[in-house]
Amino acid sequence: MSSRTSDTSDTSDVLVIGGGIIGLVTAWRAAQRGLATAVVDPEPGGGAARVAAGMLAAVTELHYGEEQLLALNLESARRYPDFAAELTELTGHDLGYRRCGTLQVALDADDRAHLRELHALQRRCGLESEWLSGRECRRLEPMLAPGVRGGLRVDGDHQIDPRRLAAALVAACERAGVVFHRAWADRLDAVRDRAAGVTLADGTGLRAEQVVLAAGSMSGRLAGVPEALLPPVRPVKGQVLRLTVPRRYAPFLSRTVRAIVRGGHVYLVPRENGELVVGATSEELGWDTTVTAGGVYELLRDAHELVPGITELPLTETRAGLRPGSPDNAPLLGPSGLDGLVLATGHYRNGVLLTPVTGDAMAEVLAGGRLPEEARPFTPQRFDAAVLMEQPA
Ligand code: GLY
Repeated sequence: MSSRTSDTSDTSDVLVIGGGIIGLVTAWRAAQRGLATAVVDPEPGGGAARVAAGMLAAVTELHYGEEQLLALNLESARRYPDFAAELTELTGHDLGYRRCGTLQVALDADDRAHLRELHALQRRCGLESEWLSGRECRRLEPMLAPGVRGGLRVDGDHQIDPRRLAAALVAACERAGVVFHRAWADRLDAVRDRAAGVTLADGTGLRAEQVVLAAGSMSGRLAGVPEALLPPVRPVKGQVLRLTVPRRYAPFLSRTVRAIVRGGHVYLVPRENGELVVGATSEELGWDTTVTAGGVYELLRDAHELVPGITELPLTETRAGLRPGSPDNAPLLGPSGLDGLVLATGHYRNGVLLTPVTGDAMAEVLAGGRLPEEARPFTPQRFDAAVLMEQPA
């Protein structure tokens, strides 16, 4: 039998498959709109948020060709202060929301050339980002390596602790009356060409008016979803380290520091409680979540080049998670091609950042039947075969 934290019937207005931060924020916002809402997940609050560093990095994670995604990222970043305040006031949870800014640095001449281009792109997009010399970077962050050649100061890119965020969302859902079914969803059930609920791994059937598929990297393989409508979401492995900064070294870093070293991204995210998160590898290895010696070595090697003192710190955790990657790195939001089935998945590198705007968009869809303006470029239909065939090669 599935275990539930509150006891109601097995029929709801909204049934969310997946209790990661995207599923939870969807459920919370839907319940706030008066919809009877349930979540199916063996471990609500788990998923990629257990691994993620929690950078809210709309500007420093800007990639070429992602200008449309940038608009959604910026909108979500804009909503973060109110979102975090609301969640904290409601639940009493401290989310570790830290408006600390980010410094993106270059270690050699090639990095510096790349960073100059990124700076130009950021400015073309109207973003606030200031070029600093190596000396100015070290004045801001004295632990940086003497060889740092320059950097970008982005005061608008912040951080949150995703584990705390997930715990707060679980608490907010509970307060809003969301029912948790702590089990795996085995398959989607459809009746007369309409999503009607799910069958759990133990055979229990749950019924709902609307079903939301928010299962992160696993969203692309739920049985019962017609093959052509399965979201094109794949797992992208990220290995992440957690270290602890002893009090005597504090403040080790005062803001997030990141760089591209040998083509790979490395970032160091310092929490107020002394945790220092170092991430992340990006590996296309299917469902593999092994922490490898090579992954840990690369992260430590690159982090050490940036901040040599890191080797003094206790290494407290190594972990790998799976980002839900989509073909254009942007999420799939809104109604699918099957009536009654709504998607909230494919957030790839930006799940934590996009949590507020996703919750709001899903609430609009579920309660009001319309996707808000800012989410419209991200409908699942952009990946329909017919739409893709119309696009120029
Ligand atoms: N957003 C950080 C990462 O995906 O590694």
